[in-house]
Amino acid sequence: MLLKRSLDEKLFLQLKEKMSQGLLPQWVITDPDIYQLEMENIFERTWQFLGHETELKHNGDYVTRWLGRDPVLLVRNNNGEIKAFLNSCSHRGTQLCTADRGNKKAFTCPYHGWTYNNDGDLIGVVADNRVFGGEMDKSDWGLRPIPKVDSYQGMIFGCLDENAESLDDYLGDMKWYLDMLLGRSDGGMEVIGLPQRWVAKANWKSTTENFAADPYHVQTTHRSTVELGISPSDPFYAGYGHQVVCDNGHGINVITSKTGKARVKYQSMPEEMWPMFEKNLTPEQNDIMSKVTVFVGGVYPNLSFVSPIHGTEGHLHNYLNFRLWRPVGPEKVEVWCWFFIDKLAPEEYKKAAYKGYLGSFGPSGTLEQDDTETWARIVEVSGGSMMRNKELSYNNVSNYLMGHNRVEPDSSFPGPGTAYPTTYLDALAKSMHEKWLEYISRDLLVGEER
Ligand code: FES
Ligand SMILES: [Fe+2]
Repeated sequence: MLLKRSLDEKLFLQLKEKMSQGLLPQWVITDPDIYQLEMENIFERTWQFLGHETELKHNGDYVTRWLGRDPVLLVRNNNGEIKAFLNSCSHRGTQLCTADRGNKKAFTCPYHGWTYNNDGDLIGVVADNRVFGGEMDKSDWGLRPIPKVDSYQGMIFGCLDENAESLDDYLGDMKWYLDMLLGRSDGGMEVIGLPQRWVAKANWKSTTENFAADPYHVQTTHRSTVELGISPSDPFYAGYGHQVVCDNGHGINVITSKTGKARVKYQSMPEEMWPMFEKNLTPEQNDIMSKVTVFVGGVYPNLSFVSPIHGTEGHLHNYLNFRLWRPVGPEKVEVWCWFFIDKLAPEEYKKAAYKGYLGSFGPSGTLEQDDTETWARIVEVSGGSMMRNKELSYNNVSNYLMGHNRVEPDSSFPGPGTAYPTTYLDALAKSMHEKWLEYISRDLLVGEER
């Protein structure tokens, strides 16, 4: 068992108190010691997204991914099973596979040439018995498996902690919403194209919160969409609907319209597909799906999604964008961005939706650039002396008071979790940060617990 650090008790109590007041000290965003705690207690102990099964269609297909600081080789073996290994040669530990993706029956290490099959077995050693004698048993030197790998609705997740709860338990009531996003069509969803990937000056907590839990920023940060006539000018337009707080820091915003009626039914998915949605979803899920304008939310800690209606009248389409915020330091994230669409959608529809996705998200997308600017500015302020000064004559906290102790849950909402009747609300962001505090203070026994 690795020795894990935990949060200092005094600091834990201070943070807990502030957070119960709807406040988060801003210096924790980019603090290097907090970052180490996050790596050890969040990224090395929770389930995180690795890839979608349609990225590995054929036996031998592989992609290289990450779980926090650990490189992962995700591969479909010759029997069609998906396996995940530490992407590291068992000889001297260098990274084994340096490509992003491909198809291989065997992986040969670039250092001394040891070779592994796509089931992780060591099958070839250069000069073999002549240098290692007969006593080295190759079966002792296969690739090291990732302790836990499982999938839900085609989404493959991995976890570095063999004692962690099951993926099923971890996702909990969020599965009901993932079923809507991923399980509405026969054959499910598919990933089209490669995930786009880039590095941004940002902290993973800010990006995750911004994307999954903050529809309030849309009308200001993305003001150009209002000016271009793509979004309504009503300042509350992204606030209609429900914000749902699920277990474990997961959650979703179901953004509708002022009247609650559909802007277009089923987010403009082709009408011939509607009976299929009705067949695969429950009546409650169908009701939500048929009226929603945008789904946006996240699976804690670092997977977010958005499913919007995109385009102009007469040319509207829907797509699903999943994105992973991989921390590569307290002030940097590597963003991974996937385009998902129903496998059974017409080809022309898929093409138009993909074009719409590229124009809005990803490094060339207009919406993406708006957000990226803001994340970088949060980083710059958080590390400065005024935010780090503990001798307070002013607030060095971020404000999570929107709806704080004021907006009551809506018990008539048909889905699981705690649903609130607006998305201009900090309930989900707070629940994510509460989970964050719980995780980074794991193993810390406070007061009478000792
Ligand atoms: S490190 Fe891979 S063969 Fe030596
Ligand atoms: Fe945004």
